[in-house]
Amino acid sequence: MTYKNLLTKKSDGIGWITINRPDKLNAMNVETMEELKAAFLEFEPDAEVRAVILTGSGEKAFVAGADISEFVHLDAELGRHFSRKGQALTRLIENFPKPVIAAVNGYALGGGTEIALACHIRLASESAKFGQPEVKLGIIPGYGGTQRLARLVGKGKAMELILTGRMVEAKEAAEIGLVNKIVPATELLSAAEALAKEAIKNGPLAIAYSIEAINRGLDGKLDEGLELEAEIFGRTCATEDFKEGAKAFLDKRKPDFHGR
Ligand code: COA
Repeated sequence: MTYKNLLTKKSDGIGWITINRPDKLNAMNVETMEELKAAFLEFEPDAEVRAVILTGSGEKAFVAGADISEFVHLDAELGRHFSRKGQALTRLIENFPKPVIAAVNGYALGGGTEIALACHIRLASESAKFGQPEVKLGIIPGYGGTQRLARLVGKGKAMELILTGRMVEAKEAAEIGLVNKIVPATELLSAAEALAKEAIKNGPLAIAYSIEAINRGLDGKLDEGLELEAEIFGRTCATEDFKEGAKAFLDKRKPDFHGR
């Protein structure tokens, strides 16, 4: 499928999605959000795609937020709807059954940080900048930022970043655990690709089940999470991938997983 505001491609098992509105710093208007949803839904059943890398076009921005020009008219009812739409997109990304890596190449502000937070792993270029500046506009983060930022970096740091709306440079973002790793801008995409390739060597069902166990487990109590882990662990033991993975280890060869 071709998109107006996204560039997509598939290569070597990786689905690439580049948000492509560089003149607006890749700000996400409603159309871009709909396209992002469509691109993830297109890649989900596609056996040629075993991991997704999400980035922004141009050198300046990953995503500079939701498109402010589209939400000045919101009232309470429309605002709730607007937030739910963004939450549905970030939830789709978060629960995507294949690794999703954000390659943050510049500003990731507001909805940009929230999209990155929903990805499973975040790599940032040295020039990346993160922030939840919504309070500067008189609103709060609405695409999951109040929930996911606190879960990722802890309540204290999330409070600080959201209440001040200040931007953090990549170095600070890495120090507080907001990004997994910083790499030079010229190496960002190759580093994301290397990481994706490392993950997709593994059993695809085990990957999907790991994502499910981590996400669902974090939503509840530890005992419930452990129960869930045991349940899903049992499911993985019934797969052909597990038989193949264990046998390959004993045979001293690389496993040949088929996602069954
Ligand atoms: N929504 C809509 N348009 C946006 C945007 C957003 N979130 N972020 C940037 N743009 C647009 C600008 O309006 C400008 O468009 P124009 O050339 O038609 O006037 C273009 O992108 C370039 O942005 P500009 O502000 O000129 O770049 P800059 O280098 O001076 O500043 C930022 C960069 C990121 C600091 C600044 O654009 C900014 O603060 N953006 C808004 C960030 C934000 O509040 N996001 C959260 C929204 S909830």
